[in-house]
Amino acid sequence: MSDSVPPVTEPSASGEPSANQKPSANREQWSSRLVFVLAATGSAVGLGNIWKFPYITGEFGGGAFVLIYLICIASIGIPIMMAEIMLGRRGRQDPVTTMKRLAKESGHSRAWGLLGWMGVIAGFLILSYYSVIAGWAMAYVPQMASGTFTGLDAQAVNTVFSTLVGSPETLIAWHSLFLIMTMTVVARGVRGGLEKAVTYLMPMLFVLLVILIFYAMGTGHFAVGLSYLFNPDFSKITTEGVLSAMGHAFFTLSLGMGAIMVYGSYLPDNTSIAKAAFAVAFMDTLVALLAGMIIFPIVFANSLEPGAGPGLIFKTLPLAFGQMNYGTFFGTLFFILLVFAAWTSSISLIEPAITWSMKTFQISRIKASVISGILVWLMGLLTVFSFNITSDFTISSIISTRYGEFVILKDATAFDFLDYLTSNIMLPLGGLMIAIYAGWLMKKDYSRDELEISRFWYAIWSILVRYVAPVMVIIVFLNAMGVVAFVRSIMSA
Ligand code: PHE
Repeated sequence: MSDSVPPVTEPSASGEPSANQKPSANREQWSSRLVFVLAATGSAVGLGNIWKFPYITGEFGGGAFVLIYLICIASIGIPIMMAEIMLGRRGRQDPVTTMKRLAKESGHSRAWGLLGWMGVIAGFLILSYYSVIAGWAMAYVPQMASGTFTGLDAQAVNTVFSTLVGSPETLIAWHSLFLIMTMTVVARGVRGGLEKAVTYLMPMLFVLLVILIFYAMGTGHFAVGLSYLFNPDFSKITTEGVLSAMGHAFFTLSLGMGAIMVYGSYLPDNTSIAKAAFAVAFMDTLVALLAGMIIFPIVFANSLEPGAGPGLIFKTLPLAFGQMNYGTFFGTLFFILLVFAAWTSSISLIEPAITWSMKTFQISRIKASVISGILVWLMGLLTVFSFNITSDFTISSIISTRYGEFVILKDATAFDFLDYLTSNIMLPLGGLMIAIYAGWLMKKDYSRDELEISRFWYAIWSILVRYVAPVMVIIVFLNAMGVVAFVRSIMSA
């Protein structure tokens, strides 16, 4: 059997590989495309959509940021998602081995394994802070259930949040609990239960978001919120905003670090990668936009600050739940569902590291899970302390050229730094390498064979993955490094 416990507990119906499987495909697989779409959606939809998207939209000024983010989803995210699923399905191993194997197959350097390796590290780093934030959401469940927020004003809700993040002990307790939940599922390798969770809980989360939209409509500030989200004001967008919009497109779709590659490695040969990628990207974007359409009307109705940072949803949503009918019930349910959404994402964040370490060190899945869990937990302390003990310990990076200074990471805490490094640099870099490999180095016969789309769509995909996506990622990188401004100043000199 394969080196990793398959996600589907029951083998294929007949118990035998279907006729059109390649020899490399003798590991168990998802029972259908739907299961893959559910699992990939479970990975994609998470804190990125409900927690991160609204707060970074607020930090970077709204509409223009959202527009750039949507353009990145369509022109970079979807084609790279197809490429990543495709590489995973063809390689059918952990990301490092998959890349080495594919590179060998097409006569390229084994150094492509580094791509998988960077993904393993990125997933590990992201989970270290993801787990702390998921801990915040968990902490809100008992708060909601006990009616703490009923009738509170914005100031009082703010105090509840500050008290929470000001207490390292509390944060560590919730961080530990969330990580134990994640690693337990990962260690058992039986994701059957979680797929059921995705099947029922995701639609429930969606229904709750729709209920909240109705609440947002009643705030009297719905139109202001919509205009903030969808009316682009390009004077507000900064270089860093563009980089973050692109980075977030990767983050929210779980791209560029091997999570989707590992999930793709379980995908049966006869399912359409294109349809699956579209379905996942569509649902992911819908959830993010709904979250934005809920948060911003509440922000404006209560004269709050859109750029309040990582605490944004924790300061705004309780206001809504504290005021609406049955708010205690809906609020409790909402945070439970948010924790579930984070849970299904966090599993995919660590899965590349697990499959890789099992193979590399020849250890059992349980051992790999325990060791990774401990390392992630320790790393997570950096994030825990970023919000209290070490909150004043910040860095600012300044890139200066002869033509100007570019400040990135202004007053960044350890959490800000980890987030910046992973979402804005590592994931897009991983995605860029995936696009280059799939678009330029992989034999066309292979990619056509894997994607199984019509000539027309294959041509479109090729253009996007060969030219559009890499060029956009490179330009955004160069821009962030100050190179674009540098060239412009030379040209105008
Ligand atoms: N996409 C997840 C979210 O939006 C986070 C994630 C990133 C998961 C990368 C896996 C890989 O919450």
